[in-house]
Amino acid sequence: MSETLKIAVQKSGRLYEGSMKLLKECGIEISNGNNQLRVLASNFPVEVFFLRDDDIPEYVQDSVADIGFVGENVVYETKKQVDCIEKLGFGKCRLSVAVPKNGTLKTTTDLNGRRIATSYPNILSSYLEKAGINATIHEISGSVEIAPRIGLADAICDLVSSGSTLFTNELKEIETILSSESILISNSNLSDEKKIILESLLFRIRSVKKAKNNKYVLLNAPNNKLDIICKLLPGMKSPTVLPLAESGWSSVHSVINESDFWNVIEKLKANGAQGILIIPIEKMIV
Ligand code: PRP
Ligand code: ZN
Repeated sequence: MSETLKIAVQKSGRLYEGSMKLLKECGIEISNGNNQLRVLASNFPVEVFFLRDDDIPEYVQDSVADIGFVGENVVYETKKQVDCIEKLGFGKCRLSVAVPKNGTLKTTTDLNGRRIATSYPNILSSYLEKAGINATIHEISGSVEIAPRIGLADAICDLVSSGSTLFTNELKEIETILSSESILISNSNLSDEKKIILESLLFRIRSVKKAKNNKYVLLNAPNNKLDIICKLLPGMKSPTVLPLAESGWSSVHSVINESDFWNVIEKLKANGAQGILIIPIEKMIV
């Protein structure tokens, strides 16, 4: 029987949707209709395991799964022997220290002699050590945000994404100690056959990520400005320039990076570009 690559994905929570969406965008069909623990893809040699995110690094280290989609926060906290292969571009969040909004604690130095509740004792203790703060860490596995209210701790250290959990619990951030996003981790001793499947999956993931970071641009330009407009839109190789029916004008097609987008669009307009259309790209192979 030929091999399948076992992918560990969070079974529910912040990273579940992004993980499933990424697999779908990679053309991998998985139906998890019945809340199953593992599902075989119908058109690609992968099997998806749905697990608690905190357990994923250990399962990947121990070859229960070959690779996993998991937050960097969990990878750094659990300190398992896994290879970090590729950032996945979703699930962005930060690990922060937060205190009661109207309390007496204002800065991190106020944490000296205080108790901090967290599910991230390793990351927090190395932060405290570096910052020279002498606080007690209370490790709890869930609902960290309620610890100050029930008198279990004076502050918390937890993940913040939208900030709504902190807001609801009348807490405010005083320090970010780690920025995190989802990442693909791998077991360090994959068989050659599994490595080939992983390469093929990575090729798809990178094409999807690149497409998301770029947009297709179409515009009309006066011929006497084509040189400068083409320089503003170098594209993947060089822009496509086609004559318009109206003489003296051309249509220019290219690809533009999302981060340069507004800056470049202004320059294009200033150089006489008209009818600018920006179109999302689904996959991008360079
Ligand atoms: C984190 C954290 C908060 C929430 C913050 O949990 O523990 O509960 O997300 O998100 P917000 O700022 O958008 O409100 P996580 O998704 O890691 O789930 P888990 O603790 O069950 O693993
Ligand atoms: Zn978790």
